[in-house]
Amino acid sequence: MRCNRCGTLVALAAVVALVEVAAAQEIAGMWVLQDVNAEILARQPQNVRVLAIREARGGLIGKLIVPRLAGVPVAVEQHGDRVRLVIQMARGMETPLEGTLTADHLSLTLPGSTNPPTMLRRPSAEELQLLERLAPEKLPVPSMKALPANGLARTPPMGFSTWNHFQTEIDDRTIRDIADALVATGMRDAGYVYVNIDDGWQGERDEHGNLRSNRKFPDMNGLADYLHGHGLKLGMYTSPGPRSCAGFEGSYGHEEQDARTFAAWGVDYLKYDWCSAGLIYDDAEMPAVYLKMAEAIRATDRPMVFSICQYGRADVWKWGADAGGNLWRTTGDIADQWQVMSTIGFAQDELAPFAKPGHWNDPDMLEVGNRHMTAAEYRTHMSLWALLAAPLIAGHDVKSSAPETVALLTNREVIAIDQDPLGRPGRRVVQRGPLEVWTRPLEGKRTAVALFNRGAVPATIEASFAELGIDGRAGAIDVWAQRSLDVFEGSVSADVEPHGVLLLVLEPS
Ligand code: GLA
Repeated sequence: MRCNRCGTLVALAAVVALVEVAAAQEIAGMWVLQDVNAEILARQPQNVRVLAIREARGGLIGKLIVPRLAGVPVAVEQHGDRVRLVIQMARGMETPLEGTLTADHLSLTLPGSTNPPTMLRRPSAEELQLLERLAPEKLPVPSMKALPANGLARTPPMGFSTWNHFQTEIDDRTIRDIADALVATGMRDAGYVYVNIDDGWQGERDEHGNLRSNRKFPDMNGLADYLHGHGLKLGMYTSPGPRSCAGFEGSYGHEEQDARTFAAWGVDYLKYDWCSAGLIYDDAEMPAVYLKMAEAIRATDRPMVFSICQYGRADVWKWGADAGGNLWRTTGDIADQWQVMSTIGFAQDELAPFAKPGHWNDPDMLEVGNRHMTAAEYRTHMSLWALLAAPLIAGHDVKSSAPETVALLTNREVIAIDQDPLGRPGRRVVQRGPLEVWTRPLEGKRTAVALFNRGAVPATIEASFAELGIDGRAGAIDVWAQRSLDVFEGSVSADVEPHGVLLLVLEPS
């Protein structure tokens, strides 16, 4: 959902116009957007927009290569010169396009749109050659099997990641300063121990194929020692494709070697981000591709939390644990916007049964403290992530945390809900328009209850004990206000601010 990908969708979706067609043409093969040229393909492959269509299993399979090298599956139907594509960006993010095919152009538009069409053309011979280099021949993947649990992440991982705030503007100094700030703010002691370096640390491979960090990270062992010396852990990032989403070197064809490098550096956590792997593998091969790296990590004997990141495609919650995942992203990228955060968070209900100790649904990292949401919206973000048993990976500049950001992230009751040892994510029990009530069973027969107002005006939210699954009377703690409330009997009811939440822990009395 980050804009560079959306941009492509919008560009494609801004498509239109039906081109006249001569005779029925073959749609299979490569199509490039008009803004692609050989120079961009050679120098900035992460910026290309390409549609690749091939025949398979008696039908057509498409893949949209969008900026940041993601290969997004596209369903393709052709009837003569008319085509219909459905871009399957991520769960719940499907964009249909209709179009017309001529000998060398494909013109596409969103159904019902009056915008001008997006025109694609056939690549030149030179461009084709460069495209083939981007997507090398497929290497074999292991047959799928269920990997036994690695015993890590019995509760959802907590820590910090560079991506949401810093993107690729990261270096050794920044990571050390973040580590100091995690200690100074009390975040480490509240549980935020993983310091995850996301995309942008990678350099080139040496003559033996060993992956090196870039010059901004001169000493990975030293950095790991620094983190470990501060009671923190090191998280690292790579891709099963030849390139990461930001265009850096990926682990394709070097999986075992890179796992050994990470182990030698002292890495404790690996995020494995699909990115350009989509140019090589089909979604159906995802489980085996992830299993391959999980096995490579196991072979090093260094415990590493394994974070699967493929935007919630291919029902990852059904196979993520078997493929060795301790967590798996269930959605596209979060952004520091109410609309994006709330759409992601409130769409997680039906995935609850797939999470359990050691294996978590990951609705993406936190945006708390990145300053584009209100205090109420950030409370909703934290409350929802805690209810969902989501990993709590802070994504703001911890070096300059506002006191209210630290308070939000370190509220002990909220963290205790997130980290509850039963490991059972919450479910939605009431939905009345923009008003939602969610409950999460907690250890000691207690229940976390969240009254969410997704609407833009204040509202009274009520839920009966029958709806909450609670009998008799219950004492309550208001988690954000950090105070005990009167005993509730039969129902709970409260006025809740727009985009806000009342988060309670109820205990039968
Ligand atoms: C993808 C992931 C993000 C982040 C970036 C890095 O978009 O979903 O979380 O890792 O890549 O390029």
